[in-house]
Amino acid sequence: MPSDNLTDVTPCGGCSRREFLAHSSLAAVATLLAACGSDTATAPLPNGVTVRVADYPALATVGGISQVSSTGTPVAVVRSSASTFRAFSLRCPHAGTTVQITGGSFRCPNHGATFNSSGAWTGGERTSSLTELKVTANAAGDILTITS
Ligand code: FES
Repeated sequence: MPSDNLTDVTPCGGCSRREFLAHSSLAAVATLLAACGSDTATAPLPNGVTVRVADYPALATVGGISQVSSTGTPVAVVRSSASTFRAFSLRCPHAGTTVQITGGSFRCPNHGATFNSSGAWTGGERTSSLTELKVTANAAGDILTITS
């Protein structure tokens, strides 16, 4: 006969039903967080990413965007003029999913937030703008250093 007592059944090799349910709930939450794409939610912002512009063909054209770092927090560089560049964290400000580059703008695959090439939110899930990072160019303008 089934029991209504949560402590008298041992479904997982010695733990009580109550312990089993508690552990199962934690595992379910962890699985849901992973499914939500929060892979970059806690990664620190980059500090000292070096970018050789010539290594990213998209950056040869004004308006071009390229992802330049995929470790830690992914970073995108935008060529904003013939001699200037901007950099943004690709960590979605809504829930931390890695934002994708879509032509000359950005789109979050998780809930659909969109951002223009200046990192400003433009539609989809309402959130703030992408985090802009500091870009320093060398004298020749062909090597960039990105810091948070
Ligand atoms: S995580 Fe990007 S829109 Fe929700």
